[in-house]
Amino acid sequence: MKKICVGMSGASGAPIAIKLLERLKEILDTEVHLVMTHGAELTIEQETGYSVNEVKALSDFCYGLEEIGEKPASGSFNMDAMIVVPCSMKTVAGIVSGYSDNLLLRAADVTIKEGRPLILVARESSLSPIHLRNLNELAQIGVRIIPPMISYYQGFHTLEEWTDSFVERLLRALGMDGRVTEWQGM
Ligand SMILES: Cc1cc2nc3c(=O)[nH]c(=O)nc-3n(C[C@H](O)[C@H](O)[C@H](O)COP(=O)(O)O)c2cc1C
Repeated sequence: MKKICVGMSGASGAPIAIKLLERLKEILDTEVHLVMTHGAELTIEQETGYSVNEVKALSDFCYGLEEIGEKPASGSFNMDAMIVVPCSMKTVAGIVSGYSDNLLLRAADVTIKEGRPLILVARESSLSPIHLRNLNELAQIGVRIIPPMISYYQGFHTLEEWTDSFVERLLRALGMDGRVTEWQGM
């Protein structure tokens, strides 16, 4: 059983996280541990037709932001990887500074300290020098930064088509081939 921690924070892109959670549900032998910030709850309401509880129900385990004693907060709980999708610049700043005052930030801190894969779907426009410095520092220590950037050459007609394709890319980054339903390893 592979364990993936999914963090959702308050950047634009809640539909990407929802699609990823739906796809992870289809993948065999995968357990999803979800932590969402209060900002994520706002973007879910503003950007999707889902309620916060419906999104939580897409995970196997969902924790409150204040539950800093829960499994994702512990290095001895062998999480295989973590993805923060979408990842706000505030959460990027919290991760890069090691300021782990909520469960999402603590889980990311643990992922880095244990040398496990961490992927950030970091989103803001425009990106300030502070954002770029923080993202660069994380990239330098091996955190994978995958911004939700639209490409025109793939010929998508709708945001939904682009979202589906982007989520398959995230699955590949997590070591899961989007076309199969088995864990492929990192
Ligand atoms: C609809 C909406 C969209 C937002 N989009 C972004 C964004 O794309 N990037 C970002 O860094 N912050 C964005 N914000 C602001 C963050 O939600 C805010 O800075 C929040 O404090 C982030 O906290 P969190 O990382 O704990 O969720 C957005 C806020 C709202 C309400």
